Amino acid sequence: MRIFKLVAIVVFTTLMMPGCNGPEKVSCKIEQNVEQLLSRMTLREKIGQMNQLNGRRPDEAFFEQIKNGEIGSILNIEQPELINHIQSLAVNESRLGIPLLIARDVIHGYKTIFPIPLGQAASFNPDIVQEGARIAAAEATQDGIRWTFAPMMDISRDPRWGRIAESFGEDTYLTEVLAVAMIRGFQGDDLSNPSSMAACAKHLIGYGAAEGGKDYNSTYIPERQLRNVYLPPFEAAVKAGCATIMTSFNDNDGIPATGNRFLLRDILRKEWRFDGVVVSDWASVKEMVVHGFSADDKDAAMTAINAGLDMEMVSLCYIRHLETLVEEGKVSISTIDEAVRNILRLKFRLGLFDNPYIETDKTRLAYSEEHLQAAKIAAEESFVLLKNNNNVLPLNDRVKTIAVIGPMADAPHDQMGTWVFDGEKEHTVTPLTALREMYGNQVNIIYEEALKFSRDKDKSRFNKALDLARRADVVIVFVGEESILSGEAHSLADISLQGAQTDLIREIKKAKKPLVTVFMAGRPLTIGEEVDLSDAVLYAWHPGTMGGPAIADMLFGKSVPSGKLPVTFPKMVGQIPVYYNHNRTGRPARGNEVLLDEIPLEARQSSLGNTSYYLDAGFGPLFHFGFGLSYTTFDYENLILSSLELDANAVLEVSFNLTNSGAFEATEVVQLYVTDLVGSTVRPVKELKEFRRVSLKPGETRKISFHLPIASLAFYGIDMEYKVEPGMFNLMVGGNSQEGLMTQFSVCL
Ligand code: GLC
Repeated sequence: MRIFKLVAIVVFTTLMMPGCNGPEKVSCKIEQNVEQLLSRMTLREKIGQMNQLNGRRPDEAFFEQIKNGEIGSILNIEQPELINHIQSLAVNESRLGIPLLIARDVIHGYKTIFPIPLGQAASFNPDIVQEGARIAAAEATQDGIRWTFAPMMDISRDPRWGRIAESFGEDTYLTEVLAVAMIRGFQGDDLSNPSSMAACAKHLIGYGAAEGGKDYNSTYIPERQLRNVYLPPFEAAVKAGCATIMTSFNDNDGIPATGNRFLLRDILRKEWRFDGVVVSDWASVKEMVVHGFSADDKDAAMTAINAGLDMEMVSLCYIRHLETLVEEGKVSISTIDEAVRNILRLKFRLGLFDNPYIETDKTRLAYSEEHLQAAKIAAEESFVLLKNNNNVLPLNDRVKTIAVIGPMADAPHDQMGTWVFDGEKEHTVTPLTALREMYGNQVNIIYEEALKFSRDKDKSRFNKALDLARRADVVIVFVGEESILSGEAHSLADISLQGAQTDLIREIKKAKKPLVTVFMAGRPLTIGEEVDLSDAVLYAWHPGTMGGPAIADMLFGKSVPSGKLPVTFPKMVGQIPVYYNHNRTGRPARGNEVLLDEIPLEARQSSLGNTSYYLDAGFGPLFHFGFGLSYTTFDYENLILSSLELDANAVLEVSFNLTNSGAFEATEVVQLYVTDLVGSTVRPVKELKEFRRVSLKPGETRKISFHLPIASLAFYGIDMEYKVEPGMFNLMVGGNSQEGLMTQFSVCL
């Protein structure tokens, strides 16, 4: 009855209000519907829309709250029948029949699990990221989930921070491109399509800069760095139509993001014209009391709503205190209305009023062959080959026996990585399983786990592992991190391999056989010794459901590594923060510094020089941003610019020849970096401005062209205006951030 009444009212309003015609017809009708509905809501019902609850254990009281219109969104319910039941309560038994927003963390896959986002970033492939998100949305919406809390787009320069696993790494431009791709994958072309999910750009802002890499810790990011490094991916997300944004737990310079008016109103709404929903993180409204930023829950509610937070996740400050705050005149009804408009608008955009229910009889898409194949390809493109001495890889037909050793060779749960709620380990194909099933008929696979899990210190099976290694032609050891060791609240002060994994590699080395080390981890690890002990090193991140077949095919050369590091690998934890696009400083290291063991006795005070480096770790990292090897080699030649002097509105054409000079058909991620040599403020030593995956056959040469808008060199300078500044620029194209063809150009205004 109620749905009929609501439809009748919407029809009446549409007829009575000025028509919505032309291209803006849909959004105009939505605005009409929003206003019409809003005008009929009580204050209590409006506040109910701003209240998001955890649906983990719904009971009668919970159902009553739905019927009373006190809940606007529910997270962590993923049973279709239950979702249809609670939607029916909302639509048919509440006074206005407003449907619920059903949300969940679908971060890197729903049932079919894709590589962790840090691994997906290593593919430098927005198409792969978009496809993975589309597949996740197809699977999750079948269970009734229409809002995911992804992509996470926190710039992450500190591998001690467990959530680096969920990020796209340290670079702003790469993060921008991949975050937009993921949003497009989740939201599709039409948010009202039942297989589309509202995306959520998170966590605004600066969460990845938590001091000391300790999760939830304070950040101290000045506005200029916020605008040049941390905000651009969020602005790109808003421009791409991202439906929602989540505030972060951290305070930046003393102001918790959830209560940061400058962020949520001045930047997000006034500058960027964002008209979506801003949701808090889990209890981050209430936690402003713990921060010492709010006196109590009521104060926290007032601070958050006046700062521009539309919806509160689970901490009940809004539902308990906003009515009183309005009555006391501390929160205006117009402020409440703004928030409710954003929420209703999203529900209309999702088509929930027309289509609140899930069809439960559709063919299940989860784990379909198409989805599994896409997850395998994503995994393959995420792997980074860090070392390959004497071309140990790919394994050739002289290899008759392979010893597979280590705690990550057959770890179906851990292989999926962090933030996996719905993926089932029974569907994970591990490297051991894949090697046996796919290659067991052409090579003899012998296996010893040696350690039960990554933190295991029990060496009692090392001698058996060594014995196996002695019997093999090649040893492949699988080490890394259990999935629980990365992700939220899982910071580490020591990012070397846990347990006795390094000891295991040292032991196996005694067999003096070719040693291939495959890492599965959620972050860069300090693995210098392990790399030295290995002949080949493949970094597989946490590769997801199909990581095993992807690794097996890569080891045997059916696929060729193309991944590049989206984050710098430090030699030791003391080097952190270490990232490629740092400022030059007044005394940059020259690379010829005297290191600890070379220092002469009684060396005089300034005898070692005065440059920015570590006596023990030097200056450079273990592996640079953008680095990754292939089974082939690529040559860069003949770099040509369309002009050497350009104005701010010009587009610079950059072209060069790329040759596959090796024996394998392969893909190179060509990268273009620019250095602004002089600015009104100090500028980074270089910045990634373009990248592209290029596949070439052996011997093939192709002319590659980039079109670089000079406008893309704009930044917030001394006057905090976003603009291009004139002067000289270096430009480099290459296969990583450190080497390539160099040239210069100048910009004149
Ligand atoms: C968590 C995370 C956030 C997530 C939310 C809901 O604490 O910080 O990324 O989306 O709560 O699970």
